[in-house]
Amino acid sequence: MNGADQVNRPIASGTGNAKVIVLGEHAVVHGSPALAAAMTNGCEVKIEPWDGPSHVLLAEGAFECASNHPVATALGRALANVELPTPVRVTPHFSVPVGAGLGSSAAFAVALSRALASFCAPRTLDRGLVVQAVEGCFHGRPSGLDAYLAEQGGIGSFTRAEGFTPLRLPALNFVVINTGIQRETSTQVNRVSDLLTRFPNIVSPIFATIAEIVRDGIRFWQNNNLKDLGTCMNINQGLLDALGVSHPANQRAVELARASGALGAKLTGAGGGGCVLALTDCAETADRIANGFASGAAFATVLGEDK
Ligand code: PMV
Repeated sequence: MNGADQVNRPIASGTGNAKVIVLGEHAVVHGSPALAAAMTNGCEVKIEPWDGPSHVLLAEGAFECASNHPVATALGRALANVELPTPVRVTPHFSVPVGAGLGSSAAFAVALSRALASFCAPRTLDRGLVVQAVEGCFHGRPSGLDAYLAEQGGIGSFTRAEGFTPLRLPALNFVVINTGIQRETSTQVNRVSDLLTRFPNIVSPIFATIAEIVRDGIRFWQNNNLKDLGTCMNINQGLLDALGVSHPANQRAVELARASGALGAKLTGAGGGGCVLALTDCAETADRIANGFASGAAFATVLGEDK
């Protein structure tokens, strides 16, 4: 295929949302509720037909499905569920940090499934199988929360048993801080599962307390009680540390955010590095706290709806 042909062939695309867990990560894997919100368009995937083996094009290079790059492996597993008319080049563009607790893998999974569906149209494909194949590569035992928000968006509470319950919550100003330390969600999830197996009488009550934190936190948010919502985030951080999923870099970011005026701060997502979420009283405080971190390491965001 010459260059002009490559350019003229159709390109399909799809998007998936990123997410931020405000309260309840890890415990949600074991049946407790979590409070979480989507951040729109966390990942966009473009697919074009290609002469040669299917591959993923990332900032660090092109990786064939048979290579051992985790994104290429995930692509290979996803494509095993799809009858493609031709090999493809898959190019993801992430607008959130990757492997940092913001649901980038679920955002990629959903964006890829949408792009593949559009690429293969009018033939239909089971997008759920594609999402499961990709998520299965990055997660030990996904709760399903990331995949739901990547697909549907919104803000609300989630349990494994009942799924997602959308909530009407007033808009609040948060800061997301990336520690810059990447880790694998599956390692973190397995760490907590091991602790639960070894110390069920200790870890189960921690999950039960986190469930109460989520329920109280929702009530405080609904009543615009930012101070107590912030305290819930702080207590949740202490319990995540007890579960072994915090990291000195998480703790440093949490403490700097609190010292700079955040009403509460905790790791978000799987922890072990990744991102920290801080609640603030207004947009100005959020910007000021974000600007206190290294350039590009933090951004202010609004969660909830405008009144
Ligand atoms: O770090 P992330 O974006 O993969 O989020 C993981 C959230 C967990 O609660 C730890 C796992 C899950 O599946 O809910």
